Amino acid sequence: MKEITPASKPLKGEIYVPGDKSISHRAIMFGSLSKGDTRIRNFLMADDCLSTIDCFRKLGVQIDVSPDNIIVHGNGLHSLKAPTETLYTGNSGTTTRLISGILAAQSFNTRLTGDASIEKRPMKRIITPLSLMGADIKSEKDNGCAPLLINGKKLNGISYDSPVASAQVKSSILLAGLYADGITSVTEPALSRNHTELMLKGFGADITSEGLTASIKPAKELHACDINVPSDISSAAYFIAAALLVKDSELIIKNTGINPTRAGIIKAVKDMGGDIELLNIRKEGGEECADILVKYSKDKLHGITLEGDIIPTLIDEIPMIAILAAYAEGETVIKDAAELHVKECDRIAAMDSELKKIGGDITATEDGMIINGTGHLSGGDIESMNDHRIAMSFAIAALAADKNIRIENDDCITISYPDFFDTLKNIL
Ligand code: S3P
Repeated sequence: MKEITPASKPLKGEIYVPGDKSISHRAIMFGSLSKGDTRIRNFLMADDCLSTIDCFRKLGVQIDVSPDNIIVHGNGLHSLKAPTETLYTGNSGTTTRLISGILAAQSFNTRLTGDASIEKRPMKRIITPLSLMGADIKSEKDNGCAPLLINGKKLNGISYDSPVASAQVKSSILLAGLYADGITSVTEPALSRNHTELMLKGFGADITSEGLTASIKPAKELHACDINVPSDISSAAYFIAAALLVKDSELIIKNTGINPTRAGIIKAVKDMGGDIELLNIRKEGGEECADILVKYSKDKLHGITLEGDIIPTLIDEIPMIAILAAYAEGETVIKDAAELHVKECDRIAAMDSELKKIGGDITATEDGMIINGTGHLSGGDIESMNDHRIAMSFAIAALAADKNIRIENDDCITISYPDFFDTLKNIL
């Protein structure tokens, strides 16, 4: 249990948040499939990404972890070895879904599972397209979830219209496409994060994007390359919100990824009337980065409607945005976000029950939520539902609340941000 007290002074200075989770996973995976040494700097040392390292080690890849960097000693696209035990992906949906696309094309069989949350998350969304490619992939309990039994097969390319805007689904199919006969394309209903497309190109894959469609040609080999991971905008989001909410704050969050398919939070905050600015915009290895300057704006925040194409670009930030909405004036409507039901927990249900416990006025809807901003939250006890993003969002809510907020099961922050409370302590 963690108890957070309201902030007693402004948050000032410059901070760094840890490396991007999505990019860190992909750097390990693509490095493992490449020939040569991939050196990764600013890798996210958190449980989810450690699950990816563990899985690839069990597939025979040597991965050296040191305080400065990670070196993946890749032996090529066809070098993975049959694991001698079940691959365990922990809490990580990205590991589970992306690795399934790779395993579907190997010359060996794998059993794959994760924690209690992973065993409830939908895997049909990858089983269906991978099966169309010729994969032999089954849900062991026949419930569309992990454990998955994947018998490696020769795959064929497909042209797939995905019913969901999901980078995990898109990436799973594209990775299978590296090994398939012919071209593989995925078309999404709205553009999801494109880290796979950007990074695979850097590793030498023949991959193109046009509008909502990404296409990949089978590869003979990928080539190792160095990756500098920018800081994670999803982790930065907590400190953006903190600076907006605590009186007279002014924070710079350095070297943060602002890839347009990820950075919807910046637009949402601007639209709510928040004072946020991007400084020193630059590109690193295909990914846009910036320093984010945020100033106290609670008195100016007002409700907005979030719907349509912006949703995939801020999907993981919705719990934090819901807290901002509670502190804003007027109504915030979040629609087209039914995906929130199938994240690490049901985030619509979690925000509905937990925000009410601390005085928030929220109504859950089928595909989102409506928050009636009252400008203040009272404090109280909340349950994280073992979801890192719920725990961290409520920790930030406490900084501007009338009284303390106690968070039950806060340990789950190690999934994406083990040092979260230390960063917070340093600026308080
Ligand atoms: C991720 C994609 C998103 C996101 C998740 C990470 C990724 O999930 O919510 O935290 O790294 O590809 P979906 O692809 O299921 O939307």
